[in-house]
Amino acid sequence: MYPIFLFTHSWLRWVVLISGILVVAFAWWGWFGKRAWSNRERLWGMVFNSSMDLQLLVGGLLYFVFSPLTTSAFSNFGAAMQNAAQRFFVVEHGFVMLIAVVFAHLGSVLSKKAADERGKFKRAAIWYSLALLFVLAMIPWDRPLLRGL
Ligand code: HEM
Repeated sequence: MYPIFLFTHSWLRWVVLISGILVVAFAWWGWFGKRAWSNRERLWGMVFNSSMDLQLLVGGLLYFVFSPLTTSAFSNFGAAMQNAAQRFFVVEHGFVMLIAVVFAHLGSVLSKKAADERGKFKRAAIWYSLALLFVLAMIPWDRPLLRGL
């Protein structure tokens, strides 16, 4: 099961990144271009949020069940904290990505609640940009970009 979950988690990052870049671009463009909030914003916001949720689920399963990296660290937590590579996955990656998921949801929920079109784009621009920045910062870019190929 471990290789399947790692493969899924690795490739799903591209759905997160592509949809994240699109929602951020649409939001800033709409905010300053004074455009109308349309199905395009709704659809890509949904793709971004769903792929983030799925990453959270698969990442959580890797973290608690399948990944030898984290499960071995739990048996000697103190030593793992001294090792930067292990600490990255045991603490930093999961925690910051969790915050990114919350930001992505705030982008969706708060933009829906905004009274006017400009407010929708503004809220989406702020929260989706923060979510995307956190994701970009916490992807382990030194690992395979196209796992399995
Ligand atoms: C939500 C956005 C997330 C993205 C875009 C993301 C992305 C990635 C990427 C690209 C890798 C490297 C995969 C590879 O080596 O091919 C990775 C590894 C990992 N991620 Fe995430 N991740 C996210 C969230 C999470 C969360 C919330 C958790 C835990 C709660 C998590 C746990 C892990 C673990 C444990 C590994 C290492 C697995 C291993 O090598 O055994 N991820 N993640």
